[in-house]
Amino acid sequence: MKKLFLFPTLAIIGLLFFQATIKTESDTEIVEHSMAPEMPANVKAVVDQKCYGCHNAESKNDKGKAKLDWDAFEAAKKSKQMATMGKITEVLESGDMPPAKYLENKPEGKLTEAELATLMEWSAGKKKSK
Ligand code: HEC
Repeated sequence: MKKLFLFPTLAIIGLLFFQATIKTESDTEIVEHSMAPEMPANVKAVVDQKCYGCHNAESKNDKGKAKLDWDAFEAAKKSKQMATMGKITEVLESGDMPPAKYLENKPEGKLTEAELATLMEWSAGKKKSK
């Protein structure tokens, strides 16, 4: 008689264990989805070439580093990223970045029209109006 109960009990324990495993997996997925989206590859390519040099955690340009650190940006929460993207849109619209002083010695550092459009489209969610 006792043996008859053993099988269903084991089955239930097994089922509970199985459900627990599934639950853990879906929890992980939810965490991933609440993270800020990755930067698109084309935006990242422009940033790497034209902005990253002064704006990264190891930058010798202390003022630039203090204002914007792309390494921290990528790890930041979405709300923080949105605020930074607003700042980025501002400097792009006014043409303040890369700094004019720097471009005097390094004119090739200037953003091309296409690069500017790529960044603006991303930071402001629109194309640059001329
Ligand atoms: C030659 C170094 C250099 C390059 C290249 C550069 N920046 Fe900067 N950036 C700076 C410095 C220095 C500051 C701080 C300016 C200040 O405080 O007056 C700054 C400030 C900023 C700020 C903050 C503005 C504010 O008022 O808070 C943003 C946003 C920014 N840069 C975006 C960019 C973007 C986007 C690019 C690429 C298109 C870029 N920067 C390229 C040096 C650089």
